[in-house]
Amino acid sequence: MKDNKFIPDHVAVIMDGNGRWAQNTGRDRKEGHQEGMEAIRRVSIRASERGVKVLTLYAFSTENWKRPPQEVKFLMQLPVNFFDRFVPELQENNIKVNMIGFKDKVPGPTKRSIEKAISETKDNTGMVLNFAFNYGGRSEIVEATKSVVDKVLSGELNRKDITEDVLQGELLTHSIQPYDEVDLLIRSSGEQRLSNFLLWQNAYSEFYFSKLYWPDFTGDILDEALLDYQNRSRRYGAL
Ligand code: FPP
Repeated sequence: MKDNKFIPDHVAVIMDGNGRWAQNTGRDRKEGHQEGMEAIRRVSIRASERGVKVLTLYAFSTENWKRPPQEVKFLMQLPVNFFDRFVPELQENNIKVNMIGFKDKVPGPTKRSIEKAISETKDNTGMVLNFAFNYGGRSEIVEATKSVVDKVLSGELNRKDITEDVLQGELLTHSIQPYDEVDLLIRSSGEQRLSNFLLWQNAYSEFYFSKLYWPDFTGDILDEALLDYQNRSRRYGAL
């Protein structure tokens, strides 16, 4: 690994393939999600050791409500299980928990568990482990637009002063500024699409696709992605 300045500040991961991992070996999908939590633990610790500033994990999308009710119920229970087990380890690694997403539809116990983890780790100064939970990129942009319109209507903002920075500051990711733009996007399971994830923030990110299902993802695979990133040349539209 080259020195720290070649480490991406913001790594975002679409953790895909829990269900297929389980089904391929004749197990229940739930076991895939359970193993997926172990992968979160491994990858978070490795990312923090490597000097990543923000690791955003796509844990539940606004489209995931379309899954069968018993799977939705199980997915809503995962943050509770995860934080019950792993907050001490996050503390040991100086990791700070954050969440982006629409909290309104999230059931009370899940919301409280996330809020508790955020509050318990709020003084940590290391990597931010940012869960995208009930998150959707298009809705995020619509809500940000409404905030900008409200500011114009109230006279707080002049129409001519609406810039990319202004809109970006209204996105859910304002909580992880200045690292809100993604540097490296990873998706597991061989699928190669964005699935409504951080649409604005991925404008200039590098993509890394792994064929492994998320429960098989390890710290060493993260290192491979980081090495691959170090060999990319990011030009942001320039030469
Ligand atoms: C994708 O696999 C994974 C998910 C939809 C959920 C991932 C969430 C976790 C592993 C835990 C979340 C934990 C916290 C702390 C918020 P899939 O079900 O889409 O797999 P498939 O494409 O093979 O069916």
